[in-house]
Amino acid sequence: MRPNNIEIGASILSADFCYIGEAVEEAISSNIDFIHVDIMDGKFVESITWGPQTIADIKKNFNVVTDVHLMVEKPEQVLEQYLNAYPDRVSIHPESTYFSRKLLHQIKNSGAEAGIAMKLETPIESVINLLDIVDFVLLLSSEEGFGGNSYSEAIMTSKICKIMNLKKSLNYKLKIQLDGGIKGHNLGVLYEQGVNRFVLGSALYNNDPFKMNYEKIINVL
Ligand code: DX5
Ligand code: ZN
Repeated sequence: MRPNNIEIGASILSADFCYIGEAVEEAISSNIDFIHVDIMDGKFVESITWGPQTIADIKKNFNVVTDVHLMVEKPEQVLEQYLNAYPDRVSIHPESTYFSRKLLHQIKNSGAEAGIAMKLETPIESVINLLDIVDFVLLLSSEEGFGGNSYSEAIMTSKICKIMNLKKSLNYKLKIQLDGGIKGHNLGVLYEQGVNRFVLGSALYNNDPFKMNYEKIINVL
């Protein structure tokens, strides 16, 4: 039985790029809570994906929460264009800019939820001074840039513990979102550790935009 405080998002990075609309449609009809869109510029990460028009078109065609994960260098140069597409959530990487606080305020002022996203090697301590303004923290839990990479238990166990403790001691309402390597076998354990927002790519799509594994995954909870 699916607990009602859990949110599961589908990362369309693992869908067939020729069938993005179908992949979003399939996620919505499987009762996915949000669509996670990785924006990659070939510089901050190796891969290249989509742009602001993709977000605008998803918003135009579907009534679904869009979670934009900006994996780009100097997001200050493009953020406005993404905000003009009215995404529901936007996360930026502190490793990609000198202007994290300013950009997070800009996201919040647009009405979207603002998130700070962190690569595996980025320590929690480096974002403490941003936690007062963010709505969520997106922890990359596998090597960045591609779907299908495995969950890094060695790093994530203490990282999750640290962020949970900070959230509690500072009394912040922020959500903890995990992205990378989440599958049926670790979702339940991570939920028990207190995480309740998850992004799943390859576990859901298997490169087949028409057939999601959602029921199989959610049954582990
Ligand atoms: C990777 C991306 C993820 C990716 C997750 O850098 O940020 O959103 O799609 O894919 P899986 O669930 O296959 O690890
Ligand atoms: Zn992502």
